Amino acid sequence: MKKIVGLFLFLASLTMLFASNEAEELAVEKCGGCHLMGVVSKEKLKNMKAPPYWAIAKKAKEAYANKEDKINYIVDYTLNPTEEKMLFPVETKKLFGVMPSQEGKVTEDEIKLIAEYILENKTF
Ligand code: HEC
Repeated sequence: MKKIVGLFLFLASLTMLFASNEAEELAVEKCGGCHLMGVVSKEKLKNMKAPPYWAIAKKAKEAYANKEDKINYIVDYTLNPTEEKMLFPVETKKLFGVMPSQEGKVTEDEIKLIAEYILENKTF
């Protein structure tokens, strides 16, 4: 019995590991061209064209109390970004401009996965 429980736990942790890796890969692929996503490197910090993922997580956390609202905000903004909706300050816009809509480049389900990844992996 112990063995079975152990095996189950092992498999469960493996599944979680794969799930988070998948989300990270997706985030790097779909958003990493502008936002720093995934592993931090000097190169990525130098080439930032938008705030890094932990800044997005911080803004979402400050603006919304529950997880669903935070995810909805990220999904909505990614598909329909506007200056009025921006949580980032004017300085961000001056530095990087307003984000172009990613509609057609990423699906809603993919953004949800990415949003969870962003919210759960806030390093700072
Ligand atoms: C072409 C570059 C580019 C890509 C690709 C990109 N973004 Fe952005 N994003 C930006 C810029 C620039 C900002 C900062 C200005 C702003 O807030 O609109 C930003 C800001 C954001 C914000 C914060 C908006 C706010 O101000 O409240 C979210 C959320 C976001 N991006 C999510 C994503 C997600 C998720 C992806 C990948 C599916 C993605 N972005 C891909 C350029 C990009």
